[in-house]
Amino acid sequence: MRKKYIGVFDSGLGGLTTVSEIIRQLPGENIVFLGDTANIPYGSSKSREEIIALTMDNMEKLSAYDLKALIIACNTADCNASESVRRKYPNIPVFAVIAPAAKKAAETSENHRIGILATDSTVASGKYEEEICSCSRDSEIFSVPCPKLVPMIETGVFIDDPGQMKKVLLEYLEPLKEKDIDTLILGCTHYDIMRDMVSEILPGVNIVSSSRCVIEDLKQYLKQQKKLSRTQKAKRIYLVTSDPKRFTRMASLLINDIEIKKAN
Ligand code: DGL
Repeated sequence: MRKKYIGVFDSGLGGLTTVSEIIRQLPGENIVFLGDTANIPYGSSKSREEIIALTMDNMEKLSAYDLKALIIACNTADCNASESVRRKYPNIPVFAVIAPAAKKAAETSENHRIGILATDSTVASGKYEEEICSCSRDSEIFSVPCPKLVPMIETGVFIDDPGQMKKVLLEYLEPLKEKDIDTLILGCTHYDIMRDMVSEILPGVNIVSSSRCVIEDLKQYLKQQKKLSRTQKAKRIYLVTSDPKRFTRMASLLINDIEIKKAN
């Protein structure tokens, strides 16, 4: 029998933060993850057209699997390319990260002052502002582009030199300290890995992670459509587009016994 998979796509390893949450909440689901590590970062140096082309190229690889749902676990790909993906694959239910995180932040913020950390491309798109304001029009939003974070996470600085990581994070968070925000969106799936560090720097601020909010939408859809898997031994496939050996150390922080392979 063919196995139906939840497909998860990111420009790199950040999407594994979403995968680890799917495994925790939906342990019976088969998952195929694809990280476009050969082309990361998407968010600081690529045009919208390039991001669309890369995302569509990767969708071609993922759609070779029998997908019952797809999560675009990349805010940058979401704001630039999710419409193109939905148009090209009308038969695959596509879930993306920005709308559910924006909704959660808008609904839970009490003073309606919301900070966002994201890539240059996501901040420039204005997609978070648009989504937050469609739920709560009076919100004040403070967006901070953070081009240094993804490369530092992806190359393992996060593990090897947490002090350096915290210093850079502090640079980005410092301006938010005086804005009196009560909610901060981690608007890049890589940033979920720094959640504790962020809370230490901004104690008392409610952290909303784009990696996690999307799972609620996925769960609801699978339940409604009676598509939840009851498999005892779920199959998990982890693919990257460059040499997989470089990523095992970082990925092991998020997924136990992970075996990463090169995508064809
Ligand atoms: N993880 C991706 C996101 O959520 C961004 C990484 C990148 O810049 O490629 O935006």
